[in-house]
Amino acid sequence: MSVKKLVRLIKAASLAPSAHNSQPWLFIALQNSRERVIHAMLEAWRKAMLEDERPIELIQSTIAKFERRFERAPVVLLCCVDHSALYYDRYKDEQRKKLEGVLGHHSVAAAIQNILLAAAFMGLGACWYSAPLFCQKAIRDALALGDKIEPVALLTLGYPLKQPKRKKLKPLKAIFKIL
Ligand SMILES: Cc1cc2nc3c(=O)[nH]c(=O)nc-3n(C[C@H](O)[C@H](O)[C@H](O)COP(=O)(O)O)c2cc1C
Repeated sequence: MSVKKLVRLIKAASLAPSAHNSQPWLFIALQNSRERVIHAMLEAWRKAMLEDERPIELIQSTIAKFERRFERAPVVLLCCVDHSALYYDRYKDEQRKKLEGVLGHHSVAAAIQNILLAAAFMGLGACWYSAPLFCQKAIRDALALGDKIEPVALLTLGYPLKQPKRKKLKPLKAIFKIL
């Protein structure tokens, strides 16, 4: 996948709405760091599954499956909340400071959705992985990100090998009400 296409995706992300127009996002294409980051993430995941007493075969097959996916994807994009862009100082109370962080997550999710929509429009395939949320320290350490940058998602991007199956959707009446 060309750098030009990747830049188009990041431009789409940058158009997303964000709380107070804070644009609290950072996207890192894992190139030279990919092996290091994926290794750190999968080791943290393996440790967590061992602590959860998951069967060893399941742990091994899960790690192998995701290692393959993350190694082979043409692009792996780490999506982060940049807390330095948020307005924590505006609020005196802890509750609203906490909500400011939630707004940061909402904003990054909106930007990620823009990437997914742009990717589909460009004929690319993409998948959103939330694994970084569960091993933030491992990723922060691997990339020396500092404490203001919070890794929250990984996107794999490339060309789809096949059309995905249509998913079963909830009926509209279950998700929409006029009251
Ligand atoms: C917040 C969020 C987290 C997700 N995390 C994962 C994940 O960790 N692993 C994964 O395989 N898919 C993950 N997905 C993808 C969903 O499983 C997928 O969107 C859902 O099954 C619907 O399929 P579709 O997007 O192909 O329509 C995530 C999606 C979202 C929105």
